[in-house]
Amino acid sequence: MIPPHKIDEIMNAARIDEVVGEFVNLKKSGSSMKGLSPWSDEKTPSFMVSPAKGIFKDFSSGKGGNVVTFLMEHEHFSYPEALRWLAQRYNIELEEEKPTPEMEEARSERESLYVINEFARDWFVNQMWEEEEGQTIALSYFKERGFNESIIKKFQLGYNPDSFQAFTDVAADKGYKDEYLFATGLVKQKNERKYDGYKGRVMFPIQNLSGRTIGFGGRTLQADKNIPKYINSPESSIYDKSSSLYGLYFAKGSIAKEDNCYLVEGYTDVLSFHQKHIENTVASSGTALTKEQVKLISRYTQNVTLVYDGDKAGIKASLRGIDLILEQGMHVKVIMLPDGHDPDSFSKEHDRIEVKEYLEEHARDFIAFKADLLMEEAKGDPIKTNDVIHAMVESIALIPDTILRSIYISECSRLMHVGEKALISELNKSLRKNHKQNNRFRGNENVPEAPIIENDFQQEQKFAEDTIEHQERDLLRLMINYHDKEFTMELPSDEVPEPEKYNVLEFILDEIEGDEIVFETEKFKQLFQEIGARYDEHGFNQNHFIQHSNEEMQRLFIDLMTFPYNLDNWERKEIYVDSEEKKLRRAVMEAIYAYKSKRVERMIKECQQMLKDAMELGGDVEEFLRKQIKLEEVKREINRVLGRTVLH
Ligand code: GTP
Ligand code: MN
Repeated sequence: MIPPHKIDEIMNAARIDEVVGEFVNLKKSGSSMKGLSPWSDEKTPSFMVSPAKGIFKDFSSGKGGNVVTFLMEHEHFSYPEALRWLAQRYNIELEEEKPTPEMEEARSERESLYVINEFARDWFVNQMWEEEEGQTIALSYFKERGFNESIIKKFQLGYNPDSFQAFTDVAADKGYKDEYLFATGLVKQKNERKYDGYKGRVMFPIQNLSGRTIGFGGRTLQADKNIPKYINSPESSIYDKSSSLYGLYFAKGSIAKEDNCYLVEGYTDVLSFHQKHIENTVASSGTALTKEQVKLISRYTQNVTLVYDGDKAGIKASLRGIDLILEQGMHVKVIMLPDGHDPDSFSKEHDRIEVKEYLEEHARDFIAFKADLLMEEAKGDPIKTNDVIHAMVESIALIPDTILRSIYISECSRLMHVGEKALISELNKSLRKNHKQNNRFRGNENVPEAPIIENDFQQEQKFAEDTIEHQERDLLRLMINYHDKEFTMELPSDEVPEPEKYNVLEFILDEIEGDEIVFETEKFKQLFQEIGARYDEHGFNQNHFIQHSNEEMQRLFIDLMTFPYNLDNWERKEIYVDSEEKKLRRAVMEAIYAYKSKRVERMIKECQQMLKDAMELGGDVEEFLRKQIKLEEVKREINRVLGRTVLH
């Protein structure tokens, strides 16, 4: 736990241009700094840092935030990790809480396991490169398989000699505790006799995200089918199989840069792809893909491409993996290699360009892949075909994003020759089912309606409402971007002769709150109200919002800030304006009154409907009539102000 006053101290000391400058080459450009986006391969800079505002915005990837967010995005740090990094950078001491004896013990166990694994890793490497047995048996094996020295060294491959206690003896000499040696699986015990867990195997160390060795995969060099081909480390306090991916430590940078992750099956597949400089490759190492692994990948990219052997065995089992990825809102593609090939054998037979081309040309969207695979099985049998459609729709129902879901539904309809309406109704059933299940899981009895896909009519309605959302966004953008600007305006009444000065933010607050208008769009409403509530007490404090504890609010605020309200719209409307201040006044007035006008129009419509109902059902017609006349009056007044603003 880092105490809040320390966080403040760090945030005050940290300078975003300095910190970002350590990772990105920045050049001054006006009041801000510009550079090439670290998240894409671009030629013209679209990455911007504003030292004054303390924020960055990357227009090519859409990422934006403060100095902490930058470190989290760029270095994949957690929040406390980013703060610690900054504390160190700016020499701020963090007095951490005193660890309890249990914490100390757990830490010392973990540290011991790391030390043993790293000792073993170096010893295995040494055995392979320096000892005759290692050279003739292990190193030559890797070389015969086509791995070059640099990849063998990079992945720290090694060899555990083929005698019962070779490693056990050196580990005992080093004085490592049995308890820890057993926990790593490197040493085993039977009838009081200790022996090597990986006797005669080539060793693949498994790294965690910071490159420390958390376990090993050991491959036998014998062809005997009765011996397990691989032995993997047991789980321990440092090795959690379900949340580690082989190769990720070496792949993460490339995954982020390429914005895609190739997922293969085995250790040797990872090595082969990396050797071909396709470094955005990891393996789940034989076990079925887990949710934790998918989440791990999603820290670097939202795109996963599964690469499968040409023979179809095991593919159906992997469909579950696809669903797991979809559930995280990520995108899945599938590549089938030519018959009889795995990524390892395929990349041995082709050069880098050919492999890359094959991967690019054969990546298929999961929907086409799954449809093909299942349709082939159904072979025109109507009942089976029906099952296939259900299976497809169930996968699509797992995608959290509504728009993406509708795109897939269209695609599915096209591929399987089923009407979209029928698919949507199936989809909505699945959505409700999933929704109920999820809620039951949380013990929630009140199941709200599932977020269904709308039909065209509902879509249209949504578009009509969109303008209100846009107008609310524009108002907030004006408030935030011109919070310290003023404009002059003569009051509508003639009583005050002198033009008055108004602050943009205050003026909008007053106009909206004064009419007791509440924003309709939930996130804008929250932000507006918070700006208002704080303004009365502290004025406008930009940093409060840039460092907002609610991540969604923070992101929203920064987005609004980095897409400044474009005053030059007025130019396009062919209205001659001379000063910034006049532009500003017009922009503010139009934003407010266009919005108010829209809201009143809606109230009038609602009132008309109620009037109609009252006439048919015999309600208080008078009341609604009066209300409508009043609303029409308000509307005229609003439009009068609006017209005057535009004309003057
Ligand atoms: P090579 O046969 O040397 O090319 O290895 P591979 O990595 O291609 O192995 P394979 O395709 O047979 O299996 C894929 C992955 O499944 C391996 O990398 C291992 O992680 C895992 N695996 C395979 N066989 C075993 C086994 O016998 N036990 C365990 N625990 N895992 C295995
Ligand atoms: Mn293989």
